[in-house]
Amino acid sequence: MPQKIRWGILGPGKIARKFAHDLQFSNHGYLYALASRSASRIESFQKDFSVARQYLDYEELLQDPDVDVVYIATPHSHHYPWILRCLEYGKAVLCEKPICINAAQVREVIRKQQETGLFVMEALWTRFLPAYIHLRKELDNQILDITSITADFCYYSPRGAVPRVYEPHLAGGSLLDIGIYPLFLALDLMGPPVGLQATGWVDQGVDVRMTTTLQYDQGRSAMLYSDVQSATRMDAIIRLPEKVYVIPHQWHKMDEYLVVEDQRTTRHEVAKIGWGYFHEIEHVHQCLSQGLSQSPLFPLSQSLQLAHYMDAIRHELSLIYPEAIEKI
Ligand SMILES: NC(=O)c1ccc[n+]([C@@H]2O[C@H](COP(=O)([O-])OP(=O)(O)OC[C@H]3O[C@@H](n4cnc5c(N)ncnc54)[C@H](OP(=O)(O)O)[C@@H]3O)[C@@H](O)[C@H]2O)c1
Repeated sequence: MPQKIRWGILGPGKIARKFAHDLQFSNHGYLYALASRSASRIESFQKDFSVARQYLDYEELLQDPDVDVVYIATPHSHHYPWILRCLEYGKAVLCEKPICINAAQVREVIRKQQETGLFVMEALWTRFLPAYIHLRKELDNQILDITSITADFCYYSPRGAVPRVYEPHLAGGSLLDIGIYPLFLALDLMGPPVGLQATGWVDQGVDVRMTTTLQYDQGRSAMLYSDVQSATRMDAIIRLPEKVYVIPHQWHKMDEYLVVEDQRTTRHEVAKIGWGYFHEIEHVHQCLSQGLSQSPLFPLSQSLQLAHYMDAIRHELSLIYPEAIEKI
């Protein structure tokens, strides 16, 4: 790897801007190249961020030998094909969540990743937030004591506001876009469930909302919600026999959590840098500089597990995306 890792971005949309903002805080990498299908989007991006190379064709960015790692920030449907293209061109990959839209595609990505030995990681940024790492460490030897988790990710986005959210051809809907966060929390802390039940509302080919219960032994459970048509505080609650952990207000971007025990509340604050994407970025830098091909904190096996349960939830909701994007 060169002294400073050179990033290329595919798809300079909303999240790519936040990513580029946080990349500026790093001393280990920088934004080197950008590809968009739109000249005006490149121009507008360049007003805010310095980028040495611009491409109007994603493929051309991948042909640039000086790009070390590609951040894929396209809609969900376009993650899988572009990961495969990146690997064909010998590029390491950080791909936005969900890494693929189904487990079969993740399995194929893992196969190609192992074949090429190139680094691939899903950008599930919450996993890398200092406050989450702190909480996880504290819970480490209490995992089996967790009796239940309640977590949601909901916001109000009516049809038309953010087109990709309601577009079946882009694998829109609440589960893949935001429901993935509470599912991640439950799986990461409680592990695989023994049963799953899901319900929701599928309208015009996407799930507007879903509720999932994961069942564990001894009646333990996780209640998970996502909704693109209702706003909530988004608190996550992790219950143990004698205490409860609360991650208040938009828990997925946490920089604090509360422990309530014996009617006493202790607040733990662990600040994040920038929007919070800095931490996943630095983790990728670390992995690349150590020659790792997967993240030790969030390996592809965890991405596969997430995709597996999202498939199971979609099965319960009878939610199938167009064949053109479900195929491998
Ligand atoms: N980690 C987070 O906190 C977070 C937050 C929001 C979103 N996300 C994830 O980031 C990804 C992108 O979301 P976003 O909100 O940034 O989306 P967005 O603003 O709509 O931007 C998506 C970009 O993808 C490109 N694109 C390529 N093919 C496309 C197609 N067929 N239709 C539409 N756009 C296409 C577009 O780039 P060009 O037209 O310029 O080529 C566009 O700039 C999704 O996977 C989403 O789940 C993550």
